Parts: sequence; structure tokens; C-alpha cells
Amino acid sequence: MNSVLQRLSAALRHRVVPVTVLVFLSVALATSAAGGSNEAAVAADPAARIRQLREEVAHHDELYHRQAQPEISDYDYDQLKAELSALEKQNPDAVAKLGRSPVRPVGDDRTAGFASYRHRERMLSLEKTYSEADLRAFHARLVRQLGRGKLEYVIEPKFDGLAISVTYDHGRLVRVATRGNGVEGDDVTANALTIRSLPHTLEIRDGAAGPATVEVRGECYMSFAEFRRINEERIEQGEPGFSSPRNLAAGTLKSLDPTEVGRRRLDVVFYGLGAIDPVSAAPASQSALLAQFRAWGLPTVEDFKVVDSIETAWTAVQEFGRRRPDLPYPTDGAVVKLNPVDEQRELGATDEAPRWAIAYKFAPERATTRLKAITLQVGRTGVITPVAELEPVRLGGATIARATLHNAAEISRRDLRIGDFVVIERTGEVIPAIVGIDHSHRDPASTPYVFPAICPDCGRPLARREGEVAWRCTNAACPAQLKRRLQHFASAECVGIKGLGDATIAALVDQGRVHGIADLYRLNRGDFTAVPGRDGAKSSETVLAAIAASKRADTWRFVSGFGIPGVGTRAARALAARFGALDRLASVDETALKNTNVIGADTARAVAQFFRDPAQVQMLADLKSLGVMPRTADTNGRLAGKVIVLTGSFEKFTRSHATELIEAAGGHVAEDVSRHTAFLAVGTNPGAKLGRAQALDVPVIDEAKLLELLGAAGGE
Ligand code: IVH
Repeated sequence: MNSVLQRLSAALRHRVVPVTVLVFLSVALATSAAGGSNEAAVAADPAARIRQLREEVAHHDELYHRQAQPEISDYDYDQLKAELSALEKQNPDAVAKLGRSPVRPVGDDRTAGFASYRHRERMLSLEKTYSEADLRAFHARLVRQLGRGKLEYVIEPKFDGLAISVTYDHGRLVRVATRGNGVEGDDVTANALTIRSLPHTLEIRDGAAGPATVEVRGECYMSFAEFRRINEERIEQGEPGFSSPRNLAAGTLKSLDPTEVGRRRLDVVFYGLGAIDPVSAAPASQSALLAQFRAWGLPTVEDFKVVDSIETAWTAVQEFGRRRPDLPYPTDGAVVKLNPVDEQRELGATDEAPRWAIAYKFAPERATTRLKAITLQVGRTGVITPVAELEPVRLGGATIARATLHNAAEISRRDLRIGDFVVIERTGEVIPAIVGIDHSHRDPASTPYVFPAICPDCGRPLARREGEVAWRCTNAACPAQLKRRLQHFASAECVGIKGLGDATIAALVDQGRVHGIADLYRLNRGDFTAVPGRDGAKSSETVLAAIAASKRADTWRFVSGFGIPGVGTRAARALAARFGALDRLASVDETALKNTNVIGADTARAVAQFFRDPAQVQMLADLKSLGVMPRTADTNGRLAGKVIVLTGSFEKFTRSHATELIEAAGGHVAEDVSRHTAFLAVGTNPGAKLGRAQALDVPVIDEAKLLELLGAAGGE
């Protein structure tokens, strides 16, 4: 019996989580070493436990901050650090004997390959807690220190990404750095410039005085949608998926391959201030700072709340916790900040964190259940993904019956066995993961899991490519692969055939009516007579109409639908915008593809190979003869190949409408003015882009001229 696990599950179910229980659980889960730790042993020799924890924390620090590839959940990592810090505080003698802790609370994200950048003002971390009592104690301390009972707080989401500091000199972005050790960070300017939501200039209204220099602090993160997109693609390519959007964001911003960075969408949000010159330009409160960021055109915290008591602060934190699973961006808590800057100054900061703010982190929702079986899913490129089939269990308001297992190596590394009791955890939108095994409940007769040698669908042997972790089914005719390929092609992100769902596709493949994409366009009513749910005349007509309509889908939708390795919707859009029709794209060689700079070398090779493959040449010819005529962007349009920048607001259209019209005319809308800009289109209340265009001699046009260029006379 593992009482620790039982106590933990019970505690989490009732949402009362005694810290000691969590600390010991984290150890039980984090260290597979037999025995782990127990209270009596720690009391007898705290130095030994401190030494062990220092080693473990240093190991996980390296994995989390430098490699962005942690082995344990963020929660377990936090608990290890909390246990270490508590033990060190309680045992000064042991610390004196062992020497100062080599573990730094701020962590250090600096990695080889980047120049160092010294922050003008230090980048601090935040005090963190998982307990309401600590939050109230924080407030009581502030009341005591400030000698005031009524305090105003701002409650913000705690974004789960990588802290960055962006310097603007006279309104122009000059540097982006990571936190590093708080004093010096990595200069990641080149990578960060690819982030579309990061403005290259501050919008400072004509006549207004902007700061000469300002360091704005915020978070670089990845949305759940982008995380899912990239992970699905990686897994299809036989590579291990990333464990969380945070780690993927950190890995991307720290990537030494610029094309890789360009192909992944990162976002930024700003919530803090570093140095500012003149100092008088600093807003007087946190809420005023957020408003200033918005006025400068910086993406900032939108979901914040100003409250005037710890009660309302706690309510806001909990309310935020409830909304958290529905947010499109990853968060791991809420930050409570004292609002007035003069009071913040009065309190100051410790070596690591300001005394005027605290992060309340949400404990992950966990549950214990039994692993009933491991099933294998076959992807569209044949990659086999193992899935944990669980005894259904309630977790975070949902019933969970499956969890991700990543790959075969992961199963054997953890020696996961069928019948094991496992602890599962769910964070945000991410599919639940197994974070621990209850070894005390293991059936002594159980045996290590043996990964199957054959495809669960077609029965052919599985193979592993050199350097890849994934097993693949190499049978090009494997029905499971074909179904996945067709599902992908028909999905809303690709050509979007409504009504052609997974079950219909599966039935059509199983009955031998469809052997490839082109066959979809050969289907007639008779093919549906044996398809359950689609056998009615009306129902099959609806699907056939949707298939017919898809013949005129945009070119990029087909390009993306073909499932070429590395070509997701973004690359597909870029390729279609660059080459127009499918025929044209199919005839471009690898070098020309690479030279577009919209895809990396590996993807360029994959695209060229795909269009050279005789089976695909035949497929394209078949599509054509079956009347498939994808819509192309206008490469001969009036604005073909032209980069346009917009500033200010327009009378006749919104920005997104203007962007659509420009793209339809073959142009491209960029965020900021550069030497490559063809025109700056200026509406009313233009921002700083106007000055920059003038400085660079970029032609400036007004709304009437833009309309004329678009051929939309008068904007009707
Ligand atoms: S304020 C001096 N606000 O959390 C105060 N930090 O664990 C510095 N973070 O280093 C931070 N969301 O990377 C602040 N709304 C928010 C935040 C936030 C995420 C991160 C930030 C910080 C870390 C501390």
C-alpha cells in the first residue's frame, strides 16, 4: 500500500493539499530510487537529504531552464525546490556544513550560441505559492509593512512561457533578451524579430514625448493551438513531441536555426517595466503601466482585475482558475501585484523577487487510476503512437479514459506495465499525461511491456528509421495510414469536406471504394449505399455536394492537405502565395523552394520529392481530369509580390478587410516598415510607422490611393 499516493489522491480530490504530503509524493514520483525518502530518515540526517535534493534540483534546473526538456512535471519540480528551501531554512547547521546552496532560486536560462546581454535593471523572479494561507500571509505582511489596511491589487494571469526583456530606444526595438540569471541574459533579438505580435516600434503619437529608452518585461509564449499543430506534425515525422507549450516556446526562442523559429508561431505579452529614461515617464501604478503598454501598441495583459481587498483578490484568483482551462494561452497561476508604484517602491525587493507581488500557482489536477491496456495508433505517415487506455476516472470536470504515452522508449524508460496504477495529470488544454506509477500496487506477476513488432492494422512489420524514436508501419498501402491521410485532407484545416467524417472515410476505405485522394472525386451515390449513416439518398447527396464544392478550395488547402512532411497550413499558405497554381509549385526544384526562405531545407527536399514521386504525379493529373481546380492567389495581381504596411485607421475598411483585399491582389501585409516595404498606407491617427517610412524613403499613400491600387473604386 502506498499511503502517500492514497493521501495525495484523497487530498487532491478534496482540494486540501498538505504540503508534507505533496513534498513526499513528489519525491516518490521524481526519484525512482527504491525507498525515496521518509520523514524519520530526513530528521535523522537532514544534510543527506539536502545534498540529495540539491543534486536533483540542479539536474531539473538544467533540464527546465537550459534544455527546455523536463523529465518531471512543473508541479513536482516546484515541490522539490520548496522542500529544499524549507529544509535549508530549518537546518542552518547542515547548510553551514555543506556550504551555500549552488541552486539559485532565479534559475539560469543562458545557453551556448547566444551573445550575453546585461540588463539595465535586474530581472527578478516572483515569490510563488500553492496555498491560500500564504496568499493571506503575504497581504498581512504588506499591511504591516505599509501601515495601511486598505490595499489595491492587480490580479493578472501568470503566463507560462519564457521571460523576456525588450529594449526600445526612441521608440525603436533594439534588443530582446531572456532573463538569464537575472543580471545577464541571452541576446535573442534575431529570433524574436520573427514574432509577429512583437512591435518593432512603439506607437508614439506625433507630438507626444516617448521615453528615450525603455525596457519592457513580459513573456514569450505559445498558444495551445500552435503547440498542438507543431506537436502533431513532429509526431507524424517520427520525432518525440514536446511536453508543453512552455517548453516549446523556450526551445524555439533559443533555437539556433532561424528557419525553425520562423515556422513556429510565438506570441508575446508585456506586464512589467525594467529601466526607463526619463524616470518621470514611468506610470504611477501597475494598471496605468498596462494602459501605457496598450497605448504604445504593445500586446499586454487584457484579462486583469483591479481589486481593493485580499478577499476580492482571492475571489479573482479563484475565478481566474475556473476560466483557465478555456483560455487559448497557457497559464500556470495568477499574479497578485500591489497596484500603486510608490507603495511598491516602499517595499522594495529581495535578491530574487519583489516584496510587492506574489504568484499563486494552481496545483495540477491529478487522479490515480489503472492502466488497462496500451493501444497503438497509426498516423498518416505510418508513425505508431502508443496510447494509455485507462480505467475511466473523473479529472478536472471531465472523465478521462486515455493518456498520451509519446513513444516506445518512454514506456520502457519508465517501465510502465499493463495493470499498473498510474497518477495522471491534466494542465490546461493539453491531453492528460502519466506523471507517476504507484509501484506498491504493482502486480508481482506483471512483466515489462513489450512493444509490438507488427502494425496493429495491416500486420506488416514495424521499422525504426535511424535517429528517430518512433516505430513506423512502412506499408504504403496500410489502410490505417490511408484513412488518416484522407481524414487530414478532408479536415477543416485543409480542403474542408463537410460531412466526410472519420467513420465515413473508414467505411469507404474498408469497402475498397477509395484508395487515394483522387478517388474521393470519383465517388457517386452508389458508393455510399453500404456506408452506415450515409446510406440515405439525401445524406449521400450532401457529402457529394461538399466534395464537389471542395474542387474549388484554395490552392494552399490542397498543398496542406497532401500531408507533405513539414508542410502545415502556414508553409502551405506561403508556398501558394509564392507560386500560385499547383502545377507551378510542382515544377519548382528544391533549390528554388529553399531560396524562398519560407520553408527550411528539409521541407524543401520533402516538397520536391513529393511532386517528383510518380504516384503523386498521377494523383495531380487525376485531380485535374476530375475537374479539381484550386483557387489561386493572384500572382499577376496589381500588388503581386508587394509588401504593404498599414498604419492608423481607415474609413472604408477594417485592417483585416484591407489585409484580405491586399492578399487577394497578390500583395503581402507586413507589421512594420523596412527597406522592402513598397507602400505605407496611412489612415487617420497614424503611428510612428509614418516617421520611419519617411526616414527610409518608403512611398506613403492615403486611403483613396490604396483603394485605387486595389481596383476597388470608391470602396463599394
Ligand atoms: S511580474 C518583478 N507578471 O513568472 C516582477 N511575471 O515565476 C516580475 N510571469 O519571471 C514578474 N506572468 O516570467 C509577472 N503577469 C505576470 C507574469 C509573470 C508570467 C512569469 C515571469 C516571471 C515568472 C516568475
